[in-house]
Amino acid sequence: MEIRILTGELAKAEADGLIVPILEGTPRLEGDIAAIDRDLDGAVSRLVETGDVKGKPDEVTVLHSLGKIPATWVAIIGMGKLQDVTKDRVRRAVAIAGRALRQRKAKNIATSAPGFSGVTPEEAAQAITEGSLLGLYAFRKHITKEPDFTKIKQLTVLDADTARLPVIARGYEKGRVLAEATNLARDMVNEPGNYMTPTRMAEVATELARDYRLEVNVLEREQMRELGMGALLGVSQGSAQPPKLIVLSYKGSDSGQLDIALVGKAITFDSGGISLKSAEGMGDMKGDMAGGAAVIAAMGGIARFKPKVNVVGIVPATENMPSGTAQRPGDIVTAMNGKTIEIISTDAEGRLTLADALSYANKLNAKAIIDVATLTGACRIALGDVTSGVFGNNQEWIDRVLAAATAAGERLWQMPMFDEYKEQIKSDVADMKNTGGRFGGAITAAQFLAEFAGETPWVHIDIAGPGMLEKERGYLVKGGTGVSVRTLVSLVLAVDKT
Ligand code: BES
Ligand code: MN
Ligand code: ZN
Repeated sequence: MEIRILTGELAKAEADGLIVPILEGTPRLEGDIAAIDRDLDGAVSRLVETGDVKGKPDEVTVLHSLGKIPATWVAIIGMGKLQDVTKDRVRRAVAIAGRALRQRKAKNIATSAPGFSGVTPEEAAQAITEGSLLGLYAFRKHITKEPDFTKIKQLTVLDADTARLPVIARGYEKGRVLAEATNLARDMVNEPGNYMTPTRMAEVATELARDYRLEVNVLEREQMRELGMGALLGVSQGSAQPPKLIVLSYKGSDSGQLDIALVGKAITFDSGGISLKSAEGMGDMKGDMAGGAAVIAAMGGIARFKPKVNVVGIVPATENMPSGTAQRPGDIVTAMNGKTIEIISTDAEGRLTLADALSYANKLNAKAIIDVATLTGACRIALGDVTSGVFGNNQEWIDRVLAAATAAGERLWQMPMFDEYKEQIKSDVADMKNTGGRFGGAITAAQFLAEFAGETPWVHIDIAGPGMLEKERGYLVKGGTGVSVRTLVSLVLAVDKT
């Protein structure tokens, strides 16, 4: 979709459809909606009077203009009360109204970035861009028949005041990079396991590196062996697909210091291994590489923003399959940092791959680490598909991640890391076990990872819930959501400013 920013009035816009926001509980229509109401002979104000249009969040009403204005359709989208309007509400509004217009076969749509009490025109433009690119996303690569909706080719953002266009353009640029990075992560997550293999993930990372001048290094099994990555190799040994440790580097400063390591879980298919999962819903485990996809996509976004920091993305990509060569429950493996792990369940594989990836981040002397993983069903049970769990060993670093998520419009919730939980992963035959039982499963998984983060400030985000959705929600569509890409990029940009 092409997005243009022009001087003009929405009521006069040449487009198939208009997206026009309406506030809840305002006695008089103002701005674009008032002008459109006048041209439509008071149709909007009559709908408001009768209570058919209330302006409640997410309420969308599509009117036919009957030729009274150049645009055919007017999608009136509720914004709620003025004081409650946030960037996220703008994102949702544009997504919902955009989909309503797409359903009516609109190809060109137009809107404006007015700015509300709590949202500046720059922020509104960013949110409009994100809302449209994210909300109109569809993964149709493997569908040969035509969809029952059109592909919206063009979105025009109009403002009557030419002086405001540069500000709007700035918001647009930011939103575009964030949304395109998120959609890249979604593409990877939605791709099935027979396409999105570890090898293919490495190719995507390599293509991205070429496009945005990142350095890429893909470590093969032999190099993992030399590095002593016994935990990662244990997970991959049952699979016919070779594992890849993908390392993307962005250099924005000459300090010689690695400021941040982003680490992402990338199990391209998690069958559970010998501790085989039950058949129901197993196909969703094609999305068990969502953390790795988020890290790769975020690295592309970071390279486009060019912050003055050094960042490395580390993605241990492998399948988790059962076979005659697969790892067994009861096996003991040694991770790169020398610690030994008793395998209780081969289905607790993500933490094993991350153990070596975190050790690798420490070998690179990262000043701070953040990992993203579809790590535990327990986290999904605890927080649903709305919120990701946050864990860490350093409150200052955790707070920065929480702030970045809030700025990006993603929901995070900090979970406890009390020492008592560590009891659950003590082993009689090795340094630790890879599972701590059913109770507090997301926490004991994080405590396991903490052993490999060591003293480095580290944050872990468990995206098992929000990584994939069963049903669309606002600008998040069904399937892969690309969650945490916006948080990771915002975090790096915020670190750049300090
Ligand atoms: N990839 C799963 C976690 C998961 C479950 C992600 C549902 C998204 C949706 C992970 O590898 C796993 O299997 N975890 C086990 C851990 C258990 C064996 C300790 C789980 O959560 O059941
Ligand atoms: Mn698993
Ligand atoms: Zn998994």
